[in-house]
Amino acid sequence: MGFRRVKGVLTVTILISFAIFVIVELTRSRSQERKDLFLHKKSYNFTINNPRACHTAGRLHQGVFLLVIVVTQPQNFQQRSLFRQTWGSRTQYKDEQIRTLFLAGRSPNFSVQFALKAENDKYEDIIQADFEDCYLNLTLKMVLALRWTVRYCPNALYILKTDDDMIVRYDKLAEYLYNLPWKPMPRLYMGFLLVNKVPKRSKDHKWYTSYEEWPEEHFPTYISGPAYVMGRGAVKGLYSSALETPLFKFEDLFMGICARKANLTLSHNDEMPDRRMGDRYTYCLYDGFITIHHAAVNLSLRYWEELHSAQRPICNITGWEALRIERQKEREKERKEKKTPNPLGHYLKWFSMF
Ligand SMILES: *[C@@H]1O[C@H](CO)[C@@H](O)[C@H](O)[C@H]1NC(C)=O
Ligand SMILES: *[C@@H]1O[C@H](CO)[C@@H](O)[C@H](O)[C@H]1NC(C)=O
Ligand SMILES: *[C@@H]1O[C@H](CO)[C@@H](O)[C@H](O)[C@H]1NC(C)=O
Ligand SMILES: *[C@@H]1O[C@H](CO)[C@@H](O)[C@H](O)[C@H]1NC(C)=O
Ligand SMILES: *[C@@H]1O[C@H](CO)[C@@H](O)[C@H](O)[C@H]1NC(C)=O
Ligand SMILES: *[C@@H]1O[C@H](CO)[C@@H](O)[C@H](O)[C@H]1NC(C)=O
Repeated sequence: MGFRRVKGVLTVTILISFAIFVIVELTRSRSQERKDLFLHKKSYNFTINNPRACHTAGRLHQGVFLLVIVVTQPQNFQQRSLFRQTWGSRTQYKDEQIRTLFLAGRSPNFSVQFALKAENDKYEDIIQADFEDCYLNLTLKMVLALRWTVRYCPNALYILKTDDDMIVRYDKLAEYLYNLPWKPMPRLYMGFLLVNKVPKRSKDHKWYTSYEEWPEEHFPTYISGPAYVMGRGAVKGLYSSALETPLFKFEDLFMGICARKANLTLSHNDEMPDRRMGDRYTYCLYDGFITIHHAAVNLSLRYWEELHSAQRPICNITGWEALRIERQKEREKERKEKKTPNPLGHYLKWFSMF
């Protein structure tokens, strides 16, 4: 009897210890995970900063009218140089002020870090936050962009977030914003709306999302990442919601989640397409858009030059309509090439062997 009892007590003790061990381990790994998901609540120094960048005033608005934050990586010297010389060179619209600043994280490469400091000494337009700059930290970078804006540029009326490989027609954007009804704290959150997107579940996809990261079948409505505009009321709301929201690896989706929490209305702008133009280029195609995604360096430069030349075309058809026509032409060309294999080509090839 006694022996049995001892055995029973022992078993129970062992089971309980095991259960406690499992619970402790689970909580520990969970809390580690939670810490990573709230990296953005920590304090980061702005190791390169221009705290006075927004100390300016326009005629109607007592502060910066449009702040453009170009998200960049420390080593992207060429992209920044091109952006500065072209689209980012504009500093005014009517009598209102436009500022362009580049935001980067930390580089492990000392010579890059040194050159970045020198670049800022020359142009005074770089903000660097003290975190490791890598793709998976893009969301953290965006939260720090909001933090910087709230802290150092609270007077900016509108803020455009964009990337260093984008074309941005400041003139068109500023005109659009200028013509909106004037409000002291606009809650505009505008760009290309993505509705009912389905997460990529195949593991080798660039935008793979596991069921653990996102269990639902659809993503909520959000705004495409390479360019979006926020009114300063929206920036405040987005920033405070962001601090209460676990990080998600896709920065634009994270912002969409924060926007929903902050009760912002997402507005669609058809002239800020999320489609990449690749190496397609005609002046009139580009002229219908405010922002253009992933322009090859030479196309960005070519468009800039054509836009500022005296012989620039007068466009009858632009933007999406021009894109549709371009695509049709491309398809026809492809079909023709397939249909009529040039019989002479064979002979020529044959002859050229001699
Ligand atoms: C920020 O910089 C200061 C002075 O260089 C340093 O004392 C502090 O620890 C830094 N803070 C963080 C969060 O890195
Ligand atoms: C650091 O950057 C410089 C300039 O971009 C490059 O030449 C060098 O190879 C880099 N060093 C390392 C260790 O990556
Ligand atoms: C993001 O930056 C933080 C702070 O520098 C760093 O601890 C973390 O490892 C980075 N994340 C990734 C995925 O590299
Ligand atoms: C958003 O709206 C809901 C319902 O009207 C409200 O309960 C919530 O407090 C609002 N959130 C913010 C951040 O304003
Ligand atoms: C731009 O450069 C790429 C190579 O980097 C080239 O293939 C393309 O033809 C160029 N396009 C124009 C319009 O010059
Ligand atoms: C636009 O239309 C006008 C007349 O309708 C024509 O002269 C001009 O060539 C057209 N422009 C382009 C780029 O097709």
